[in-house]
Amino acid sequence: MRAGNSTDAGPVWAALAWVGMAEELPVTMARGPVCVIGAGSSGLAACQALHTRGIPFDCFEAGSSVGGNWRYGNDNGMSSAYRSLHAKSSRRGMQYAAFPMPDHYPDYLSHEMIARYLDDFADHFGFRGRIRFRTEVTRAEPAPGGGWDVTARQRDTGATCTGRYGAVIVANGHHWDPRYPEPAFPGAGAFAGVQIHSHQYRAPEPFAGKRVLVLGIGNSACDVAAECSRVAARTLIAMRSGAHIIPRYLAGRPADRLTLMRPAMMMPLWLRRLAVALLVWIARGGMTRCGLPKPGHRLLCGPLAVSDSLLHGLRRGEIVIKPAIDRFEGDRVHFRDGSTEQVDVVIYGTGYKISFPFLRESLIGARDGEVPLYRRVVPPALPGLYFIGLVQPIGAIMPVAEAQSQWVADLLAGRAALPPEPEMNREITSYRNAIARRYDRTGGHAIHVDFLPYLREIRKERAAGARRRRGGAGYRWASATSGLCLACGAADGCTSAEGCRAGRPGSASAATSEAAVRPSATQNVAPNASASAGRAWAGSAAASRPAPVMLPPKPGSRAPIACCRVTAISAVPSEPAMR
Ligand SMILES: Cc1cc2nc3c(=O)[nH]c(=O)nc-3n(C[C@H](O)[C@H](O)[C@H](O)COP(=O)(O)OP(=O)(O)OC[C@H]3O[C@@H](n4cnc5c(N)ncnc54)[C@H](O)[C@@H]3O)c2cc1C
Ligand SMILES: NC(=O)c1ccc[n+]([C@@H]2O[C@H](COP(=O)([O-])OP(=O)(O)OC[C@H]3O[C@@H](n4cnc5c(N)ncnc54)[C@H](OP(=O)(O)O)[C@@H]3O)[C@@H](O)[C@H]2O)c1
Repeated sequence: MRAGNSTDAGPVWAALAWVGMAEELPVTMARGPVCVIGAGSSGLAACQALHTRGIPFDCFEAGSSVGGNWRYGNDNGMSSAYRSLHAKSSRRGMQYAAFPMPDHYPDYLSHEMIARYLDDFADHFGFRGRIRFRTEVTRAEPAPGGGWDVTARQRDTGATCTGRYGAVIVANGHHWDPRYPEPAFPGAGAFAGVQIHSHQYRAPEPFAGKRVLVLGIGNSACDVAAECSRVAARTLIAMRSGAHIIPRYLAGRPADRLTLMRPAMMMPLWLRRLAVALLVWIARGGMTRCGLPKPGHRLLCGPLAVSDSLLHGLRRGEIVIKPAIDRFEGDRVHFRDGSTEQVDVVIYGTGYKISFPFLRESLIGARDGEVPLYRRVVPPALPGLYFIGLVQPIGAIMPVAEAQSQWVADLLAGRAALPPEPEMNREITSYRNAIARRYDRTGGHAIHVDFLPYLREIRKERAAGARRRRGGAGYRWASATSGLCLACGAADGCTSAEGCRAGRPGSASAATSEAAVRPSATQNVAPNASASAGRAWAGSAAASRPAPVMLPPKPGSRAPIACCRVTAISAVPSEPAMR
């Protein structure tokens, strides 16, 4: 990436192309390398998928190391990890399939172990060198000529630069932007005590001897309340609705193992729910006996927290349950049941907002914490943009991010194609409806997925995408945004009725020169239609674009593929100036 908006050919890519190495690179080069935003567990999965396929990419990471949320005290300022944090998902559920965790690891890992595992992952696959640390993406914008313009800021020097990328993979995490009650409770602004979010909580010592009120009944609130109760003078936990609290172990095994077992996934949801409810009841007894309100939703159909320590604290009387907060008054908190308590510290365990500060809000159309994404990854109307790890699985995020990344790598390498935009929109609507039916609402659960069924869905999508690709349905032209045929690089349009000059869809040469381009409603066209789509832009934007340059074919290779890359290289920024 070089300072300013560069469209010069990157010398490295050009050199690679001319010595024939670029021939090994997938045709996504046609639009430049890929930008990955974030090197947490999701971004790392994306980097690994791209790296092992030889797809060129740059990863920008705001902190000085990989691991994101799992790096305690991360200098990115975004980690919500507290000192005692242990994962709620078990080791087997968390590991990447491509990099299993050692057998001697415990069932539930501490944040240190997970951060070390993520370090090992990056080093094992050897892509650490492609990550630009202490570099924060401040803007990503569709480029007028196709691709994406990405602006990044080096955090130490403040230097910013902009470069053009063929695609952007967003993996910035969704547990770093604290969500406070909105609107704030009456009187909260004048509260005499301290108010913090669980995002800022690190250890219980500062709360020794204090009267602490924790709000919420998610995993954060349960952990924080249980920890504080060991040192605080009094610990209250307030909630506006009930949640199912699951012990870490069921039938002697990590609880998530049950939801991860394939036979369990064959069962209908009601049977799974019944089986889990029975095991939970045997392990824990009725929740109302601990004083917790009965959840308004069935198990697996709403919020769920994994906590042994909260239940112990409640049973020992070290934690007291309160209903929703009504208002603050001086150093007192009034609750909805009319009771009041004197409180020194309020800790909001009220969850996180989904935020993309580098994307224009109007671009992604997020509402109620939901971004409309085809299979939770692809925004249909934004070619070249992908989201990894933007899901809330019952189970861990890592294997999900890994599966998503492999699919995106398929798309970028031209091995799979997306369905037409209307079909993607239909899938989004049906997902939304299913979520609304299951959870009686969308907000807060709008990114929920069931672990194994979702992994199966992505597997099926990859297979369907490959079939679409082979059938030529995904064979498409750069649209008005690009002006270049991404298969043959022709700037004058592919006028042949049979297909572009790189080879007809489905033919051997086409198979190697498939462009991993997002379809738009008009782009996702059958071969014959695609020729006319190519003509549609032939006389306009394309006329002003550089003619494609033919690369010398590598001996034994199917020659025409290279022409795509050269045209692309003209849009590839040169090597970074701010490494
Ligand atoms: C307290 C807590 C406990 C959790 N426990 C579990 C668990 O047990 N199991 C589980 O599966 N999940 C758990 N989660 C969810 C957790 O978020 C995921 O496990 C995982 O960290 C998600 O990885 P990620 O890469 O998507 O996001 P993150 O880990 O947040 O990583 C995002 C990365 O992107 C970088 N970044 C962000 N914005 C930019 C930018 N503009 N430019 C450059 N870089 C940027 C950040 O610096 C960060 O490194 C927990 C979450 C919390 C808060
Ligand atoms: N050890 C671990 O592995 C661990 C620890 C902490 C967090 N996590 C993970 O981190 C993610 C975030 O968890 P989280 O617990 O921080 O957030 P969360 O799961 O979103 O839970 C937020 C809680 O706050 C409540 N809440 C939100 N707004 C409220 C308001 N205005 N008034 C009253 N209550 C309100 C919610 O209640 P409603 O349901 O009524 O909205 C819910 O109980 C989750 O994926 C979680 O699994 C894991």
